[in-house]
Order: sequence, then structure tokens, then C-alpha cells
Amino acid sequence: MGSQPKFRILLSSEEIEAKVKALADEIRRDYQDKHPLLIGVLKGSFMFMADLIRLLDFPLEVEFIRLSSYGGSRESSGKVRVVQGLRSPIKGRDVLVIEDIVDTGLTTSFLLDYLQKKIPASLKLCALTDKPSRRQTPVTIDYLGFTVPNKFIVGYGLDWDEKFRYLPDICFIQEKG
Ligand code: IMP
Repeated sequence: MGSQPKFRILLSSEEIEAKVKALADEIRRDYQDKHPLLIGVLKGSFMFMADLIRLLDFPLEVEFIRLSSYGGSRESSGKVRVVQGLRSPIKGRDVLVIEDIVDTGLTTSFLLDYLQKKIPASLKLCALTDKPSRRQTPVTIDYLGFTVPNKFIVGYGLDWDEKFRYLPDICFIQEKG
């Protein structure tokens, strides 16, 4: 085991919990009569998805999709492919995509185009965090948790080379000096 880096809390677990509740209230208001399909984007959204869905007390279905971006795990190359696809058809469904973070926007815009081609009745995006300073392609976020600064963040499902997903707060790594 190498030495553990120092983390600084950007968003505490209490702030996240309150925000997830507020997002759930908005989503309930808009979707409670629509029997929506919520699609979580693996792996980063799993914790957010689990907390959000526990607060949505109306009929809905859950799916997951896993995408892979060619290139390094910290940089999106924009060349995205689906490595684990959907098991249920989405044609005619009200679909809500659940993302951990929209960074360059390349992954999310690929996914929204991919899903739109399957002709859902509606297609919207809920993202826990948004890093607009890094955007390379426009993405409309219909339900947004937090806008975050241009720092690499970990915790609450978000990883750094598969590490630190377990942190209950969203943190960035403290620079030395
Ligand atoms: P994109 O740059 O918007 O295509 O983001 C692609 C993916 O990169 C996201 O879904 C995350 O999995 C990952 N990512 C981008 N920024 C961060 C970050 O600050 N922390 C952890 N993962 C990130």
C-alpha cells in the first residue's frame, strides 16, 4: 500500500444528502405519473443512483449502461463505446439518464445521441456534478446537483484510477506545498 494522499472536502456528505433530496423532489414532481426508466451510467453514478432511487417513491424502472472512453482514464478522448448495453427497450419510454459528472461533455453527448436514436418518448439528463470550465461540446443538464471547479474530484462513487470511490464526501486531492 502506498501512502494515502491528503483530501480536501469540496462537498460534504450532508450537503450531498440535501441535494439528492432536492433533486428527488424535482424528479418526483415531473415523473411520478410517467413510469420512467432511469439509466445509471457506470461506474461513477452507482452511489448517487442508489440514494436517489430510495427517495423516489413511485413506479419506475432502473437500468445501467457502461461506457468506455479510449485513452487514459482521467481524460476523455471523445471516442466512446458502449461496453455494457441496455437490457430493456427504450422506445416510447420516458428516459432519465443519471450521471456522476459532466466534464468535457463528450461521454454524455455520445450517450444522449446513442439513446435518442432508439426513439424514447422523452430523454433528459440528471447530473450530480458539472464542471463547465472543461466543456468541449454543449450538454443540457435538466437536473443538476452542483457546479464544481476545474479540479479532479473523487468520492461518493467518483474514482481516480478506480480508487477512492468509497469516500462519503466529494473531495479533491490536496496539492503539496
Ligand atoms: P466527460 O469528459 O464529460 O466525457 O467525462 C467522462 C467521464 O470522466 C465521467 O463520466 C467520469 O467518469 C470521468 N470524470 C471526469 N471528470 C472527473 C473527475 O473530476 N473525477 C472523477 N471522474 C471524472
